[in-house]
Amino acid sequence: MKKILKWSGIILAVLAGILLVALAAAYFQTQSRFTRAYQTPNDVVAIPTDAESIALGKRIFQYRGCEACHGEKLEGKVYLDNPAVGLVISGNLTKGAGGIGREMSDADWVRGIRYGIRPDKTPMLFMPSTEFYFMSDADLGAVIAYIKSMPAVDNTMPRSSVSLMGRVVMTLVPQITFIPAELIPMSTARPAAPEVGITPEYGEYLTGSCKVCHGLTMSGGAIPGFPSDWPPAPNITFGGGSALPTWSEADFINTIRTGKTPMKKELRSQYMPWGSYKYMSDDELKAVWVYLKSLPKLDYGNR
Ligand code: HEC
Ligand code: HEC
Repeated sequence: MKKILKWSGIILAVLAGILLVALAAAYFQTQSRFTRAYQTPNDVVAIPTDAESIALGKRIFQYRGCEACHGEKLEGKVYLDNPAVGLVISGNLTKGAGGIGREMSDADWVRGIRYGIRPDKTPMLFMPSTEFYFMSDADLGAVIAYIKSMPAVDNTMPRSSVSLMGRVVMTLVPQITFIPAELIPMSTARPAAPEVGITPEYGEYLTGSCKVCHGLTMSGGAIPGFPSDWPPAPNITFGGGSALPTWSEADFINTIRTGKTPMKKELRSQYMPWGSYKYMSDDELKAVWVYLKSLPKLDYGNR
């Protein structure tokens, strides 16, 4: 009996040792990814200063979801504090205490938003630049003009960080990274943005973020990598199981503006961020509608 106990003790100690080595490996593997210096293209983007561009920049800041994360005053906030992922803190973008506004050059803003890279060349965590990489120079310039025009807010917070569990996930699952810069091609030319208009191409340009939840094909289903208590995303192509074939264009616009569908279903804004998308203009929502209509009609769940 004593012998068995002794042996199981040794086995446990060996297993604990292996676990510690694995955790240390995950820690150092991710640490080198967090501190890597990135070489970004030197994009030159004109930053306007007129009131009309600033107003446009505000609207883009709203419908692209920046405001939902960074706050109405751009003061930043603790967006998520979850031991499985870490601490997601969206930065204070103003010139106030704890804000980055005073130090950022125009090139720093472009590099930060478009490529997810800080002025010291290290990558940001969690900031979804993968979606903003496609934004045109004109849209990005207007957004930066708006950020620069905003009054200072004092709000000092710690930096975002990935928890040990998050680091283990990043090490073990190649598809999951909390460093958006790792997913952004830095050495090939950016695709040109389409012309503004009520076209499927422009609609596609406006809907990059929808695909995170509704799937690359927009046919919906359970959202991979999201907490299990999240509802699945509905099919928003015109295929099987989709509500959209019975809607008119006006119904669609009304749904995104009010969060209420023609079937009187209330869309929960904590899952479906219509509170951001409602700032799209009528023409922008019409472009999204013609884009959804143009998609292959897939049955639900073929994401
Ligand atoms: C899902 C939430 C989310 C959205 C949407 C989002 N951000 Fe961020 N943003 C973050 C987080 C988190 C960070 C902090 C990154 C870090 O600390 O590594 C950040 C950092 C930044 C920074 C650098 C701040 C700093 O302290 O270094 C800028 C600039 C920025 N975001 C601008 C934008 C703009 C402009 C948009 C919209 C086009 C946007 N963000 C949309 C979450 C978000
Ligand atoms: C963060 C995840 C997420 C994003 C991003 C997102 N959606 Fe959704 N969407 C959902 C979920 C979840 C529902 C179901 C909500 C509910 O039942 O309360 C939904 C519902 C909808 C509906 C209602 C469908 C129906 O059958 O009632 C439409 C239309 C829709 N989304 C369109 C869009 C469009 C267009 C975009 C991008 C501009 C978008 N969504 C972005 C998650 C998302």
